[in-house]
Amino acid sequence: MMEDTSEAIHPDKVDGPAVQEVWSSFGQLREWREYDGAYLCHGQNAGAALVFLSDAEFRFKVFSEGVLDLSTTIAVLPQKEIIRPDVEESEQELIFRTSMLVVTLDKQTFALTVKDHEGSEIARQESISWTPRGATNALFNMQEDSHFYGLGEKSSFLDKRGERYTMWNTDVYAPHMPEIEALYESIPLLIHMHQGSTYGVFLDNPGRSDFDMRSHGVAYTIGCTTGSYDIYFIYGPEIKDVVRRYTALTGRITLPPKWALGYHQSRYSYMDQQEVMELAHSFREKNIPCDVIYLDIHYMDEYRVFTFDKIRFPDPKGMIAELKEMGIRIIPIVDPGVKKDPKYRIYREGVQEEHFCRHLEGDIYYGNVWPGISAFPDFTETRTAQWWGDHHAFYTSLGIDGIWNDMNEPAVFNELKTMDPDVMHLNDGDPMTHEEIHNLYGMLMSKATYEGMKQHMNGRRPFVLTRAGYSGIQRYAAIWTGDNRSFWEHMAMAMPMILNMGLSGLPFAGPDIGGFAHHTSDQLLVRWTQMGAFFPYCRNHSAIGTIRQEPWSFGEQVEDIIREYISLRYRWMPHLYNLFYESSRTGMPILRPVLLEYPRDPKVTNLCDQFLLGPDVMIAPVYRPDTDCRTVYLPEGIWHDYWTGEKHEGGRHILAPAPLDVMPMYIRAGAIIAEGELRQYAADHRADDVVTFHIYGAEAKSSFQAEYTLYEDDGETFAHENGKYSRLHIRVSGEEGALALSIRYMDDGYQAQREHLRFTLRQPAFTPAGIDQLERITLDELAAGQIGWSLDDSSGDILIQIPDRQLEQLILRA
Ligand code: GLC
Repeated sequence: MMEDTSEAIHPDKVDGPAVQEVWSSFGQLREWREYDGAYLCHGQNAGAALVFLSDAEFRFKVFSEGVLDLSTTIAVLPQKEIIRPDVEESEQELIFRTSMLVVTLDKQTFALTVKDHEGSEIARQESISWTPRGATNALFNMQEDSHFYGLGEKSSFLDKRGERYTMWNTDVYAPHMPEIEALYESIPLLIHMHQGSTYGVFLDNPGRSDFDMRSHGVAYTIGCTTGSYDIYFIYGPEIKDVVRRYTALTGRITLPPKWALGYHQSRYSYMDQQEVMELAHSFREKNIPCDVIYLDIHYMDEYRVFTFDKIRFPDPKGMIAELKEMGIRIIPIVDPGVKKDPKYRIYREGVQEEHFCRHLEGDIYYGNVWPGISAFPDFTETRTAQWWGDHHAFYTSLGIDGIWNDMNEPAVFNELKTMDPDVMHLNDGDPMTHEEIHNLYGMLMSKATYEGMKQHMNGRRPFVLTRAGYSGIQRYAAIWTGDNRSFWEHMAMAMPMILNMGLSGLPFAGPDIGGFAHHTSDQLLVRWTQMGAFFPYCRNHSAIGTIRQEPWSFGEQVEDIIREYISLRYRWMPHLYNLFYESSRTGMPILRPVLLEYPRDPKVTNLCDQFLLGPDVMIAPVYRPDTDCRTVYLPEGIWHDYWTGEKHEGGRHILAPAPLDVMPMYIRAGAIIAEGELRQYAADHRADDVVTFHIYGAEAKSSFQAEYTLYEDDGETFAHENGKYSRLHIRVSGEEGALALSIRYMDDGYQAQREHLRFTLRQPAFTPAGIDQLERITLDELAAGQIGWSLDDSSGDILIQIPDRQLEQLILRA
């Protein structure tokens, strides 16, 4: 550097006095008024708007410089109604009353207190302050025994107390360490639970934000570095209420095609057509069910999206057709980076039609990714999203029904790991910098993909998998948790991660089973597949250069165990699909922390090495090597060991035997689980749709009541949106000396291919003397399809087979 110019005294070179950060706050309330259902509160320095979305939810948005904008990001669905609370003003306070909440704004300090009608404090937003550069920070009260959940895809344990996280979609290679603050997805929803009272705070800001439950003693903070502080306060009081309301606000999953619930096999990469075909044949020969094989980046012509490499894959259409005959679908990877190559049609079109992100000065932003120097579509522009979506006709015309979106943070191989923060997004006429909307990029890409695929699929349901996302991504895509490693610790961490994702509106999620990077081992693959067989999204994926981890990679014993667990997933498909349906309607996660079902049990606030599938099935994976037993906590109630039938009284820990072929599983007495026939792929229409309802722990006493509703449709199209579905309601009610089983189709728009319905009463507390209208037959006769009932002497189970749609009630006499 030249020392003889003014640069010698560059401010960066001189140790001057540190510049004090000046934080401003609202100052006193000067005036307030209602405008169209929004309560505008003007302070001396800035204002805030309160909008009540329901009796239990309100939005609080800071606006400065007199500019009020009540638009939202696409995370928030258009709200049908807002409510007008009773407003009362005293000398000190402005008070808003709904039927559930009393929200008080302190006129001196702008502190916001939320109470219930008994006067108990639910939450207190003590202060909000901001810097002249636009960073905002809000301070909330925290109790000594506050617990925190949600926050989407984050590492570490279930309860986020004592942690700090950043929302900034990031491609960190080999992430998933406990101290990592930012991962691929950003769901700025924090759930706070204190003594059974729960609320959520959702910060609708797609720039960088922070949630700090570590640094401030009796407070936690929520901050953002750009954009507005725009929160939704979502009261419970139950945690299920928070999840339900948050997913009503940001959307729920669209019912996926049933095949997407199957087992998926992936690797970076299956290199050519022959390898893919051999893989598919191995699954079928070995009777290991499988629905999907993935094509990672090597399928493309030098990583150009919307192409196939002509040497490796000479006949993709023929290959895909042949695989479809076998019941296996292909999902190719599609990244956002478009190779800079004037001979490449997509790139040319993108430039000529102005679809790529640009700097303000007009030059296209280029970044380095797999294809080398690449341009990135500006998905904030509707016309660009449509252009991108439309190009998926390339895939659908080859018979492809699912797409894998990766690197959509967007990842760029540079120091920032992403696009320059000052790249512009045109955003349909409301331009924004990348810094302001970074976390939306991946979601907008998957939205464009989902919509484009749907348009070209003749009424069939598409499936999209994504790595990056923001609140609301659940409406378009399933999520996998990116590049974990084949570590036992990463297997264990997948549990709290997927559980918190479920609480954050992302029920359709899963990790790379077996681990992506590093080398898996026989035991790790077994244990991880046992667990993964019950995860909503179930894919085995591994990185280039790692040891192979297809189910048969470690010899026969490992293969047999893996086959058994994947097969169990397929037998449980009717139940699993049912849980997906429920999730699409209510937002309830498929995989649930025990806490969600037992919020009053102090033992489960941070329990995350076991989980529930739906409300009734406790799953306790083994996540350490050379381990043949583990402790399992069973909450109150009676629990049946799935494997042995043994009954356990809950409210305590038990020691569960867990040799390598056993993952401990327990079913709550009073539960009903619908199981189907084993098939090699979910949509095998040649198989009979016969369903067996397993009823656990039935008693001939009035205290026994159990209910279940089985949802069914074609599993493939959107016909269910026009009533083509059925809901079969099963009710089992005990009385002294008898048990009544009622069977009723509540909706009947879809007729499954079956003649019979089956019921198995698992370990009932009585032996039936007879069943009205049914004959007692042998187990063999029952298996041969005869109508009647039978007793399995070895287990004590009662088995019943009746014609579908004919009998409405059965009475079992003790
Ligand atoms: C990224 C993805 C990984 C994929 C690889 C190559 O690392 O997370 O799943 O296999 O890119 O496409």
